[in-house]
Amino acid sequence: MADFVLKVNGADMHVSAPPDESLLFVLRDRLNLTGTKYGCGEGQCGACTVLLDGQPARSCITPASGATGANITTIEGLEQNGQLSPVQQAFLEEGAFQCGYCTSGMVLSATALLRKTPHPTEEQIVAHMDGNICRCGTYPRIIDAVKRASQSPTKAGGQ
Ligand code: FES
Ligand code: FES
Repeated sequence: MADFVLKVNGADMHVSAPPDESLLFVLRDRLNLTGTKYGCGEGQCGACTVLLDGQPARSCITPASGATGANITTIEGLEQNGQLSPVQQAFLEEGAFQCGYCTSGMVLSATALLRKTPHPTEEQIVAHMDGNICRCGTYPRIIDAVKRASQSPTKAGGQ
């Protein structure tokens, strides 16, 4: 076992885990942050996406001990003071989910996109979200949600 500290959603979290344990398992099983989902476990589906220093990362193939020093953002960290982030709100308003299993990964990927490219074209949205799989096929509504979030007046600093 290794003892280390992860900065998750702005808070320092003390973790004791095997050094090669994935960030996904540490988040879900040791820190009880179960919004991050386990899909394929092989870096292929995007269900486990979190942000590491603002960049989307597959937490299932990221060793947790390698994420020390990074600012880790999970789906639980997007809402502020009871207010959904603009991307979360837009997914809700567009009904951009069916089973919801892919949703936290989609929302975090979209959040990273809009921080970098506030007004993406549809082609840019599709290209950026390409690695996130939705088995329910709600892609058209997901794209609409990202477009809606890009037009949100409250998005500055809050994506
Ligand atoms: S569970 Fe990590 S990419 Fe599928
Ligand atoms: S809503 Fe079911 S996998 Fe995307």
